[in-house]
Amino acid sequence: MCGIVGYIGKKQCQGLLMEGLKRLEYRGYDSAGIAVIEPTPGTAAPGTKATLRTERAVGRVANLEDRLEKIGGLHGTVGLAHTRWATHGGVTVDNAHPHRDDKNGICLVHNGIIENYATLRTLLEEKGHRFQSQTDTEVLAMLIGELYDPEQGLEAAVQAALREVTGAYAICVICERDPDVMVCARKGSPLMVGIGAGEYVVASDPSAIVAHTTQAMALDDYTVVKITRDGFRTSTLDNTETTPKVMQLELELEQIEMGGFQHYMQKEIHEQPKAIRNTLRGRIDEKDWVIRLGGLQEKAKELVKAKRIVLIGQGTALHAAMIGEYMLEDIAVIPAEWQYGSEFRYRNPIVEENTVVVAVSQSGETADTLAALDEAKERGALALGVVNAVGSTISRETDAGVYIRVGPEIGVASTKAFVGQVAALSLISIYLGRRRFLSPPRCEWLLRQLQQIPGKIERVLEQDDVIRAVAAKYVERENWLFLGRGYNYPTALEGALKLKEISYIHAEGMPAAEMKHGPIALIDDGMPAVFIANKGPQYDKVMSNIAEVRARGGHVIAVATEGDEDIKRVAEDVLWVPDVPDQLSPMVTVVPLQLLAYHAAVIRGHDVDKPRNLAKSVTVE
Ligand code: M6R
Repeated sequence: MCGIVGYIGKKQCQGLLMEGLKRLEYRGYDSAGIAVIEPTPGTAAPGTKATLRTERAVGRVANLEDRLEKIGGLHGTVGLAHTRWATHGGVTVDNAHPHRDDKNGICLVHNGIIENYATLRTLLEEKGHRFQSQTDTEVLAMLIGELYDPEQGLEAAVQAALREVTGAYAICVICERDPDVMVCARKGSPLMVGIGAGEYVVASDPSAIVAHTTQAMALDDYTVVKITRDGFRTSTLDNTETTPKVMQLELELEQIEMGGFQHYMQKEIHEQPKAIRNTLRGRIDEKDWVIRLGGLQEKAKELVKAKRIVLIGQGTALHAAMIGEYMLEDIAVIPAEWQYGSEFRYRNPIVEENTVVVAVSQSGETADTLAALDEAKERGALALGVVNAVGSTISRETDAGVYIRVGPEIGVASTKAFVGQVAALSLISIYLGRRRFLSPPRCEWLLRQLQQIPGKIERVLEQDDVIRAVAAKYVERENWLFLGRGYNYPTALEGALKLKEISYIHAEGMPAAEMKHGPIALIDDGMPAVFIANKGPQYDKVMSNIAEVRARGGHVIAVATEGDEDIKRVAEDVLWVPDVPDQLSPMVTVVPLQLLAYHAAVIRGHDVDKPRNLAKSVTVE
């Protein structure tokens, strides 16, 4: 949700900032902008006298690139850039970042929402400031400008302004009058500072940093960092100096390249076998079939005593959480329930003694999930994270957790994170189950089955062409149903979500049995109904639901188990999956649905990796 990149050092920064923006474009792509402090020609040292120049464009980063080419580029060694996912104000050049104040040459980029911006704007207007945009960000730029005192410098103005602000922010600020300084701060939205030799790259995530340095500092909430070419200083909003937390980034550049695939989403679908192998790596001891989860070790005793586990997430992560609920009940025999993070926070969630809350999130930055986590902790829950992004806010704010380790997920439509989340939740369920009622032979059987999942996904991926043909056959249909039962009810929801978000086809997922309670009225010969009908305890029931659709002229596409002859008689098209135990089946049955959605979107000519209106990481509530 908006990407920020900033640079201060000795290199010309435009190329580096634009490169960073391209890497961060998955976070938002309504409009983009850049600002560079240009030394006034003829002055000796860079930045002794300077002019702040900005350039902004609606649409993709490529449009901004065109603009820069037309004007001959921006030249300087301090700058910042932004790719936007609109919250306040439409998609216009005026609303694009960077935003400037009208007095002191302050310029900033922002990710988040300033909740009290309307009040602040009125106060600033009363002081004579005139606004060019409808954004909350311009209000912050004006406020910093209003509080700027050349004697005190930019850092003090930023601290003072942020003390007045409520809401979420990651900001990067520069100033024409203080041209050798960059000030950044965060609360609620992600931001890290890459530390190089005499240069610093600030970004919303490591993908824009790793090409330059692997040493970085993740900022805690309410931290302000003042950066010059010679070093940096971190402080609180009231200017108490803090100790920075410097870490090593483990991301490899090739992990964030497309590697011969047409889209990141396609690459990530095909990476799923490897992703699950990574989730499992080193965690299953085959000698005695014991699970080792280092991230849970310290809290193992408390966890085993859990009376109730609440799994929270949003979107795809929520679908994984739903499967986690089934697994925890089934395998660990612990009462479990899933909830949207966005709903949990604003009801009166009952958190009794021995309640565990599990936040499931690829990015580890989703604001709705984070808000629920904070509320659960406030009420005394033990907090676990099932997270992909190492060092992310959720991973830092939970008491314990399991990283899913699937590598960076760049396609906006989540795919490999889903299977990684389900794999991690299955490990947690078996881990807890073994400490409760799960017998050693059953545990060993489950773990052996789990280890076979990557190979089974590979078999599904081999059918890519067949799935593409099915997508082509139905791609003009505007309404689809996705139906499944038990463990594959969440899979049905996930199949529908994938189709919606990248193909813009209306799709609904639901429990197959629910159809006859109303939605069956929609069935006609124009509507494809995708059934997850693999062999499992509810197979016969699903077959009855398929018959109900067929009887009303609906088109049935079935995800079915290899060798199932009966399904061929009732489904028009079958997407085959290998036989897999019910509990673990979503990791396999979801794959044909991901490919179906992917091909449908490509055939319809959509930008699969950057679907309209969406952003990868949703850091506003
Ligand atoms: O980063 P998170 O896993 O917390 O993100 C949660 C959702 O925003 C995310 O899964 C979203 O629904 C995706 N676009 C789904 O493909």
